[in-house]
Amino acid sequence: AGARPLAGQHVLVSAGPTREALDPVRYLTNHSSGRMGYALAAAAAHAGAHVCLVSGPTTLAVPAGVRRVDVQSAADMHAAVMAEIEAADVFIGAAAVADYRPADIATDKIKKSDGDAEIRLVRTRDIIADVARDYPRVFTLGFAAETTDMEAAARDKRARKGLTMIAGNVVGPNDAFGRDDNALFVVDAAGAQYYERDTKAALAERLIAQIAERLADKTGQ
Ligand code: C5P
Repeated sequence: AGARPLAGQHVLVSAGPTREALDPVRYLTNHSSGRMGYALAAAAAHAGAHVCLVSGPTTLAVPAGVRRVDVQSAADMHAAVMAEIEAADVFIGAAAVADYRPADIATDKIKKSDGDAEIRLVRTRDIIADVARDYPRVFTLGFAAETTDMEAAARDKRARKGLTMIAGNVVGPNDAFGRDDNALFVVDAAGAQYYERDTKAALAERLIAQIAERLADKTGQ
């Protein structure tokens, strides 16, 4: 424990949105700003960890002491996380990864016609679920951004993906995405607790402190 409770630990964080290309000039994405993931990366570095941040496109600066790997698509993010996971003790999935991508990426710009168009979408792979399944020694923290039934959805998502810990939050036009504050419902094997509305930096510090405590419990420090 102490001032640098994650000294010697390797923390891998995913953050930001992904971009799923339709053609060379168009893509599908979402409103994730990347702020929660960047705040977590900064807090983990501040706690003494070696931090790698796999980030989709954002306007944010790389936090001090953090190594960033830039990606675009969900497939890129999956590959970048898997390339870094062997060294990791903790994986924090804060990215808003696209659940679907266009089935085909057109080589040339899609031309308009007079009629309507349809896009066929196929599923992407779940990065954090794959980490939890294939690297059970890694401490996994996932997020559950929900518009309704947030608490039940967070508990269900933690169980279904096999995560160590999950942080649920309510999203909507006036919540979470792009804002600097948030409120969390944090669930792990020991139970559930609320983190009152606060800045993402303060919430990130609390989450990182909680993870450090859990790792210390496990190693008997
Ligand atoms: O299932 P849902 O997308 O709501 O789950 C959110 C959590 O799962 C987040 O931690 C997110 O980073 C992670 N996730 C992932 N890969 C995906 C989809 C979600 O790592 N393809």
